[in-house]
Amino acid sequence: MPSTPVRLALIGCGGMARIHLNAYGSLKQKGIQTFEITAVCDPALDRAEQFAALAAEWGDRPTVYADLEALLRDRPPDAVDVTTPHHLHHTTAIACLEAGAHVLIEKPLGVTIRAARRMIEAAQRTGRTLATAEQVRRWIGPRATRWALQEAGLIGAPRLFFAQNSGGDRHAHPDERRSPLPFTWRQDKLTGGGGFIFDGGVHYADVLLYFFGDVETVYAFVGDVNAWEWPLPDGGTRRISVEDTCVAHLTFADGVVGTWTWTGAAPGRGINYTVYHGSHGSVYSEGIYPTHPELQWWNGEVVPYEELIRRFLASLGAEERECLFPAALFPDPASLSGDHGVELEVYDFLEAVRTGRPPELDGFAGLRAQAVVTAFFESHISGQPVRVADVLAGRVDAYQREIDAAWGLR
Ligand SMILES: NC(=O)c1ccc[n+]([C@@H]2O[C@H](COP(=O)([O-])OP(=O)(O)OC[C@H]3O[C@@H](n4cnc5c(N)ncnc54)[C@H](O)[C@@H]3O)[C@@H](O)[C@H]2O)c1
Repeated sequence: MPSTPVRLALIGCGGMARIHLNAYGSLKQKGIQTFEITAVCDPALDRAEQFAALAAEWGDRPTVYADLEALLRDRPPDAVDVTTPHHLHHTTAIACLEAGAHVLIEKPLGVTIRAARRMIEAAQRTGRTLATAEQVRRWIGPRATRWALQEAGLIGAPRLFFAQNSGGDRHAHPDERRSPLPFTWRQDKLTGGGGFIFDGGVHYADVLLYFFGDVETVYAFVGDVNAWEWPLPDGGTRRISVEDTCVAHLTFADGVVGTWTWTGAAPGRGINYTVYHGSHGSVYSEGIYPTHPELQWWNGEVVPYEELIRRFLASLGAEERECLFPAALFPDPASLSGDHGVELEVYDFLEAVRTGRPPELDGFAGLRAQAVVTAFFESHISGQPVRVADVLAGRVDAYQREIDAAWGLR
């Protein structure tokens, strides 16, 4: 186990990277001295400089780079934290792994299944850690939900789930047919890989896998229902080439069946909830994710959120509690609210690098969640239900072929 701090580089200094940087800063404030941020890298040098200045508030000032090649050539770090746009995930991660660095990479693992598989192969070839940055299951709400559904069996045998996140834009009149948001890499199929159901959907797919195990089949509609024009930086407009809506039906290997709707094209009354039913009751939460689960028995009796959390925490042995909520970070997990997941995620990665143990979510875990949402697109294109195992193995890839071709993955 190395006694010197892990030398860490941040690759990408955009929106999500800032949340990672704050999480590393919080670890330092809590006395975690197992790492140093030695480099930051972004072609937008002003952002990288800003990151270096922020990191210098709690450590040595990191070296600033505009490109990854120069960073890896100078002195490869022990580990990197990658938050680039999706189409750069695989080239960035593979270059870092081949330079000997361990990699934590934001979800979705790769822009396509092929990209993701190449990253996993590179990790296997180099013997380095590839961890998927996935914070949602680490929140106390999803942890307690998993306990209620599986370990404690509080709702009996799980049988059904429903998730609906539907709403419309409230800032522009629908007849304007123009998005209030600018067109970015996220709205382009080749750079984003897909819209929200790909980008954000992997979080919920991971939660479902965590609760119920493998998804067997998916049958989905995916489309750009708003059909808006999106503003370009030069003043022009462009249609997005990703979806704004998805309506999906899923079956799980353990027999659970459910539906999952996500849309930004449903003006009027929005609905946001997720619910899991078993033979004896349900666990319900408002929101996209089960952040505030509430148990209800078959006879209507309710176990409210606070009581459920209390019972969950009381059920944990000392070792498990330390693993889920390390005392050095969160001495009072019952009081947790808000986003503590990223801090847990980067801490898990640093500990994996430092001790040589696997991270909770490796590259394969990222691929598994990605295959579920990729199956939505593949099902829509084929007009048929698809087996997630076929998508994961690369046997079904009609939606992804254009992206693979664009990035030399075919
Ligand atoms: N876990 C979450 O909740 C969550 C939330 C938002 C985004 N994300 C993920 O984080 C990643 C980044 O998303 P974002 O919202 O921060 O995007 P962003 O556009 O805000 O930031 C991306 C940054 O990468 C930089 N970049 C571009 N090319 C680069 C290169 N070759 N080398 C280094 N940096 C480069 C850009 O200049 C930009 O600063 C994506 O994978 C996204 O899915 C995760």
